[in-house]
Amino acid sequence: MAKAYNFFSCSLFIFFWFISSISLHAEAAVKTYKFDVQVKNVSRLCHAKPIVTVNGMFPGPTIYVREGDRVLVNVTNNAQYNMSIHWHGLKQFRNGWADGPAYITQCPIKTGHSYTYDFNVTGQRGTLWWHAHIFWLRATVHGAIVILPKQGTLFPFPQPDMETNILLGEWWNNDVEEVEKQGNKMGLPPNTSDAHTINGKPGPLFPCSEKHTFAMEVEQGKTYLLRIINAALNDELFFGVDGHNMTVVEIDAVYTKPFTTPAILIAPGQTTNVLVQANRAPGRYFMAARPFMDAPVIVDNKTATAILQYKGVPDTIIPSLPKLPAPNDTSFALNYSTKLRSLNSPQYPANVPLKIDRHLFYTIGLGINPCPTCINGTKLIASLNNITFVMPQIGLLQAHYFNIPGVFITDFPDKPPTPFNYTGAPLTANLGTSQGTRLSRIPFNSTVELVLQDTNLLTVESHPFHLHGYNFFIVGTGVGNFDPAKDPAKYNLVDPPERNTVGVPTGGWAAIRFRADNPGVWFMHCHLELHTGWGLKMAFVVENGKGPNQSVLPPPKDLPPC
Ligand SMILES: *[C@@H]1O[C@H](CO)[C@@H](O)[C@H](O)[C@H]1NC(C)=O
Ligand SMILES: *[C@@H]1O[C@H](CO)[C@@H](O)[C@H](O)[C@H]1NC(C)=O
Ligand SMILES: *[C@@H]1O[C@H](CO)[C@@H](O)[C@H](O)[C@H]1NC(C)=O
Ligand SMILES: *[C@@H]1O[C@H](CO)[C@@H](O)[C@H](O)[C@H]1NC(C)=O
Ligand SMILES: *[C@@H]1O[C@H](CO)[C@@H](O)[C@H](O)[C@H]1NC(C)=O
Ligand SMILES: *[C@@H]1O[C@H](CO)[C@@H](O)[C@H](O)[C@H]1NC(C)=O
Ligand SMILES: *[C@@H]1O[C@H](CO)[C@@H](O)[C@H](O)[C@H]1NC(C)=O
Ligand SMILES: *[C@@H]1O[C@H](CO)[C@@H](O)[C@H](O)[C@H]1NC(C)=O
Ligand SMILES: *[C@@H]1O[C@H](CO)[C@@H](O)[C@H](O)[C@H]1NC(C)=O
Ligand SMILES: *[C@@H]1O[C@H](CO)[C@@H](O)[C@H](O)[C@H]1NC(C)=O
Ligand SMILES: *[C@@H]1O[C@H](CO)[C@@H](O)[C@H](O)[C@H]1NC(C)=O
Ligand SMILES: *[C@@H]1O[C@H](CO)[C@@H](O)[C@H](O)[C@H]1NC(C)=O
Repeated sequence: MAKAYNFFSCSLFIFFWFISSISLHAEAAVKTYKFDVQVKNVSRLCHAKPIVTVNGMFPGPTIYVREGDRVLVNVTNNAQYNMSIHWHGLKQFRNGWADGPAYITQCPIKTGHSYTYDFNVTGQRGTLWWHAHIFWLRATVHGAIVILPKQGTLFPFPQPDMETNILLGEWWNNDVEEVEKQGNKMGLPPNTSDAHTINGKPGPLFPCSEKHTFAMEVEQGKTYLLRIINAALNDELFFGVDGHNMTVVEIDAVYTKPFTTPAILIAPGQTTNVLVQANRAPGRYFMAARPFMDAPVIVDNKTATAILQYKGVPDTIIPSLPKLPAPNDTSFALNYSTKLRSLNSPQYPANVPLKIDRHLFYTIGLGINPCPTCINGTKLIASLNNITFVMPQIGLLQAHYFNIPGVFITDFPDKPPTPFNYTGAPLTANLGTSQGTRLSRIPFNSTVELVLQDTNLLTVESHPFHLHGYNFFIVGTGVGNFDPAKDPAKYNLVDPPERNTVGVPTGGWAAIRFRADNPGVWFMHCHLELHTGWGLKMAFVVENGKGPNQSVLPPPKDLPPC
């Protein structure tokens, strides 16, 4: 093993990234950012290729704000692709115009055009992220959003000495848009990524990557806050630091009851804040990320690494890898999920809806539809309640706000058309689905429970579901078929985890609850980009309320037209 790391004795370029103090002192300030979407040549894994970036950075710039701030981000598209940016996890109260998913809340920003996203950060603090929300461009167009608590408010956990953002990602040697197109053309899964990355760098286990290794310098005795973001397109990931435990204190910008763990599990779309104490013998320790995959599909165990380096130790010390759970360690995954609990303190209560107005049950399925031009005459697709979502040609929010007919219908069924043994033997016949731009209409301020049920249509698989415009409470999860007679009795209605993205277990179910108090059109989709492209998505139309401040705001003047 040691041989592989001989190059550490040579001069290793190390990129240190620190934020020791952040100079944001104003109360409820306006923060302005300029995003120049541009193509830049970037070299990784012995290849150089042009990628789409923001301000030439990969990952892109961090948005630093305080709770209560107003944020203005002027995005200018100087790339040859259509663009739109999603502020993942920000609730955008009445303000879907700033949410970003292309053709859901806006038309894309065309080449040479600009759009200023204008939003308030209200009632949220912690780590979120932003990313392109059109095709596969988020592979390289993404960055962190750090929301500091209001001035004078401390974290509800020991104050760290320093903090660092850790963005986990995936790298393709070829153009990601070409990779996606090739998959669609063939009707088969496109090529998997060539590497996983930590802050855009694969680390020394990949070829030509000595100088593409992220390193973080620590001082013994100090405590570090890692803001970990899974920006990968298609992989749930384990992450750990060799020799160091992590204390989980926040998920998806919601504080949790702290717990200590040698590894975290994080799905695409999710964020996790952990505290790490530099309490080991001074040395160099690998941080590592690699996939969790407990379904019978391609297992990709490529391991991205970065280095935690104690101050003053020489670069010649050879780090060793953390012991991460096996790629198929289902029991670690289930056990980890049960440890996540909302803090539920007087200051940060968990307001779980107890009385439910609307019960929804959605099955998640893969399938095969005819495709005369594809290799086998068929293409892989995906569906919710057997509906493969068809993208509209104009933004759904515009269609809703301006009452434009013929764009969508609100007849998305509350339950699957035909009940079956969802997680029984694999079903490989009659895998067709129906197709449509079908949405579900929800009255303002009603309480919703949604059970997402994985199925064995083709194969079971874990799916991270993301809801825009809301956080929700994950009141229950389980393996097998959801049992409406028995499972609700086991719900956690006291301190369930509150998130914007839930990992539905492989061959299992997750029950989420939320209060529909944010009017607008809100996208819900699997955050595996592969599955989003296959149609594993739908949207809710949350009606306006009758009172003041309960309607969708008027659209901004510079909203991109189609
Ligand atoms: C990127 O590199 C390629 C070949 O290495 C070169 O042809 C191209 O002009 C470069 N593009 C930019 C934007 O620098
Ligand atoms: C956004 O940036 C573009 C390009 O720099 C500029 O033309 C435009 O006026 C800016 N928009 C606003 C609202 O400042
Ligand atoms: C943001 O807050 C300011 C001040 O309260 C308000 O004037 C503005 O309308 C809000 N913007 C949005 C998009 O909600
Ligand atoms: C996908 O992988 C195959 C096999 O390695 C390769 O021939 C092909 O060019 C790749 N396609 C794209 C779009 O990267
Ligand atoms: C990590 O935590 C476990 C369980 O609390 C403990 O047994 C172990 O000694 C800790 N390891 C380190 C390196 O602190
Ligand atoms: C990845 O899988 C291959 C083949 O199963 C195995 O040889 C290799 O040791 C694995 N790597 C890691 C880091 O688990
Ligand atoms: C996990 O993968 C290992 C190595 O491929 C295999 O030996 C083991 O049986 C698998 N475990 C489960 C629970 O599938
Ligand atoms: C489709 O074709 C590919 C390549 O020829 C083959 O590997 C695959 O098994 C086929 N899939 C189906 C569902 O027919
Ligand atoms: C569903 O399928 C599983 C696995 O084949 C089986 O154990 C179970 O009894 C079936 N359930 C029902 C209700 O048929
Ligand atoms: C889904 O819909 C298609 C087309 O109507 C039908 O053939 C198929 O049986 C349905 N599948 C399920 C699981 O309901
Ligand atoms: C929503 O309903 C709850 C419970 O009836 C009520 O307390 C709350 O004020 C309502 N919210 C709005 C914005 O109307
Ligand atoms: C870019 O978006 C516009 C507006 O929706 C659309 O007409 C055009 O076809 C898109 N271009 C590409 C290359 O997708």
